[in-house]
Amino acid sequence: MPSRSSLLDLKSLNQSQIQKLFETAEAFSQKSQFANQGKTGALLFFEPSTRTRMSFEVACMRLGYYPLVFDINSSSLEKGETLEDSILNINALGPDFLIIRCKDDLDLAKLSQNLKAPIINAGWGVKGHPTQALLDTFTMFRRKGKLDGLRVLIMGDIRHSRVAASHFELAKILNYKIALFGPKDFLPQEEKVTVFDSMEKALDWAEIVMCLRAQFERHQQKQDLQNYNQDYGLNSQRLSQLKKETLIFHPGPIHHGVEMTKEVLDDPRSCVLQQVQNGVYVRQALIHHLMKGEL
Ligand code: CP
Repeated sequence: MPSRSSLLDLKSLNQSQIQKLFETAEAFSQKSQFANQGKTGALLFFEPSTRTRMSFEVACMRLGYYPLVFDINSSSLEKGETLEDSILNINALGPDFLIIRCKDDLDLAKLSQNLKAPIINAGWGVKGHPTQALLDTFTMFRRKGKLDGLRVLIMGDIRHSRVAASHFELAKILNYKIALFGPKDFLPQEEKVTVFDSMEKALDWAEIVMCLRAQFERHQQKQDLQNYNQDYGLNSQRLSQLKKETLIFHPGPIHHGVEMTKEVLDDPRSCVLQQVQNGVYVRQALIHHLMKGEL
């Protein structure tokens, strides 16, 4: 015998039970009585993610916010509900904030004006991935003790990268220097930054080498990546050319053998897993200050 009743239909309830239910619901609707209980953050990832989603989940848990994780595959998107309607409905559940990853065509700016709960961008098409840039720079600062004037080489698929887009914004605020190296088709068309024409010169300049993932899902044409690692990636030969104090970053996920070979991840100069670890702290801090109205 189950120890608690199920509610499979309404025939099993009487009027007084329903009245009690409504009174309790009314009490719960007066949120001020429950100020420090039952806080939630909604995690809506309409594009795949491992690091960012789980990092935000951990950050929420550590701060005492229950993470409401939207499961795209079992959601009513399958029945034809739009993303906007899904977000409006989830917002109506009353989360304290929404963390959203989506493609460029979702108008997060407009949504944020219409929703009471703040939205945190967890990767928005190629527009930006602000928390990734923040955790990167936090990691750089922890390792190098400075950001002002730090020489950051961004290498690889820069044009299709929201991580690069956020670094272009953040570098102007934190005064670190960005230079680029990559195949012509992967270079941005608008940013006015130094572009190296040889890997040797680029690596020699850099204090940080940030390899970016080849973003296959955003390419208009299939790219030939057969010689990519040799020409634009890191490998054991490039490791031997890299200065001992130069640090290696990658936001993940890594295509092994493309942006870098396995030994690069294992090299003591690699900060890849530190980036992930620091991401939790940075996201905790972001939520904390956002909720206090301090950002
Ligand atoms: N760096 C990053 O955004 O990784 P995920 O896509 O796994 O979240």
